[in-house]
Amino acid sequence: MIKKCLFPAAGYGTRFLPATKAMPKEMLPVVNKPLIQYAVEEALEAGLSEIGIVTGRGKRSLEDHFDISYELEHQITRQVEMKGLGHAILTGRPLIGDEPFAVVLADDLCLNLEGDSVLKQMVKLYNQFRCSIVAIQEVPPEETNKYGVIAGEMIRDDIFRVNTMVEKPKPEEAPSNLAIIGRYILTPDIFDLIEQTEPGKGGEIQITDALMKQAQDGCVLAYKFKGKRFDCGSAEGYIEATNFCYENLYKTGKAH
Ligand code: G1P
Repeated sequence: MIKKCLFPAAGYGTRFLPATKAMPKEMLPVVNKPLIQYAVEEALEAGLSEIGIVTGRGKRSLEDHFDISYELEHQITRQVEMKGLGHAILTGRPLIGDEPFAVVLADDLCLNLEGDSVLKQMVKLYNQFRCSIVAIQEVPPEETNKYGVIAGEMIRDDIFRVNTMVEKPKPEEAPSNLAIIGRYILTPDIFDLIEQTEPGKGGEIQITDALMKQAQDGCVLAYKFKGKRFDCGSAEGYIEATNFCYENLYKTGKAH
């Protein structure tokens, strides 16, 4: 059973300066709700109620937002230096221990109005396959340099068994156009693998590189999820998300 979910929220949010000067980008509201709350609600819907937020700065606004009135158990842990997503996840190790867990990047806003949330879809898959799973989406080939990119063997029309994973490859070096989106289920052996991972792209410790080792030693699946994903780390994606949520959640009275 997966109970725990980590939310790395330590990035600088430079594309949204000056809005992100004193608050993390995960606190940006999409209509009436901050990104981090959409993400936490997605985790709760998937049955994950132990929440860990890895934060670097603007910690206070996140803490205030999830004050005791909020119906979940949560802890905030601090990543002192920004050394990449892999390192942020490793920072959460004391909270996770020796259990499988989920990781959600709140600036990828994922919504599925037709059924299970993306994380819930992944938790169900985990219960079936019992190995690490990354969410993927097809992206235009010229955009591979913004994502971790996978290639593998198709085992179902929406599932691949990963054999290659590259962080932010140039289009001509990309193994496919299947991009990793910010939803992961990780088995706890990933922590030792992250510890053994040298800094990669951008001089940072990349979860993609640690997962590549896991894929070589055992099994990592990539799952084409059902639903929409908005890249709220970019202005365009953020505006799209805002329009979508206004039309489909706020105006229809489904937002709360
Ligand atoms: C991170 C990961 C990348 C993944 C992306 C999803 O990159 O390193 O592999 O594809 O999240 O949003 P970032 O967007 O933090 O640069």
